[in-house]
Amino acid sequence: MNADTPLLSKEDLGRLTDFVYRRTGMRFEKKKRYYVERRLAERMAATGSRDFADYQSVLRLDGAEAQRLINSFTVNETYFFREEHQLRCLSRSMLPEIVRTRRPGDLVRIWSMPCSTGEEAYSIALWLLENWAMVDVYHIEIVGSDIDTNAIAAAIEGRYGTRALSKLPPEVVDGYFESEAHGTREIIDDLKESVKFVPCNLADEGAMATMGQFDVIFCRNLLIYFDEESRKLAARHLHRALAPGGYLCLGHTESMNRISDLFELCRFPDAITYRRC
Ligand SMILES: C[S@@+](CC[C@H](N)C(=O)[O-])C[C@H]1O[C@@H](n2cnc3c(N)ncnc32)[C@H](O)[C@@H]1O
Repeated sequence: MNADTPLLSKEDLGRLTDFVYRRTGMRFEKKKRYYVERRLAERMAATGSRDFADYQSVLRLDGAEAQRLINSFTVNETYFFREEHQLRCLSRSMLPEIVRTRRPGDLVRIWSMPCSTGEEAYSIALWLLENWAMVDVYHIEIVGSDIDTNAIAAAIEGRYGTRALSKLPPEVVDGYFESEAHGTREIIDDLKESVKFVPCNLADEGAMATMGQFDVIFCRNLLIYFDEESRKLAARHLHRALAPGGYLCLGHTESMNRISDLFELCRFPDAITYRRC
């Protein structure tokens, strides 16, 4: 494949990006042709397809191929303690506010959606163990979800390289990760067991409804890939997935401004979050 001989006609590029958009909410514009064609070329090679028409028949006949195609399109960039100020806000402001009306032993649910390969969900668990004195007083449930089933499998495996761990203090790495040959580190079993990973599509109302309601949702660095319409849909789904008074944390370039009035802005000392109205 090279720039002079595009793999896809303009119409087929539109068909493929529409397919991904309808399934995920992610909009790949024409200027992403190179990215799109690279992913398609991988899937065509893996399925032995001669051309796009051939690949479309595979997509129609093999129910699992759509998921593999989606897995190849996702951008899984993430790392431990990303935007640490939001974790600080969780232990200093959001959780103290939430448990004001709870009794010891009550359930508090936190959702990392999307969690990619698990760093965000494990960061929440780690952070609370290290920084929230009330962590054992309540029954804290942490769930990680993502549309990408390969990312979920990697999260469950819990093996990380130096880049993913680079923001963690060395004593935290030594305390919660086993050393392995080849320089990777594996999360200790206790921490692995404290986080549950389940695939879920934010754009799918039915799938979202099966997850129940959460007190805090971290939905960071996904809405940047959505267009306005899918952001609005996501806002409605996130609103339903939040318990009354629950908090939503977005990535630092994301906002609910002009997307939804279902949330009110909360300015805490460490971070700005949204609360379900
Ligand atoms: C850049 S990562 C963000 C990970 C993490 N929240 C962070 O901020 O570090 C974006 C993730 O969104 C996931 N994703 C894309 N579309 C999705 C959808 N419709 N539902 C759930 N996850 C989705 C991708 O698979 C990818 O892992």
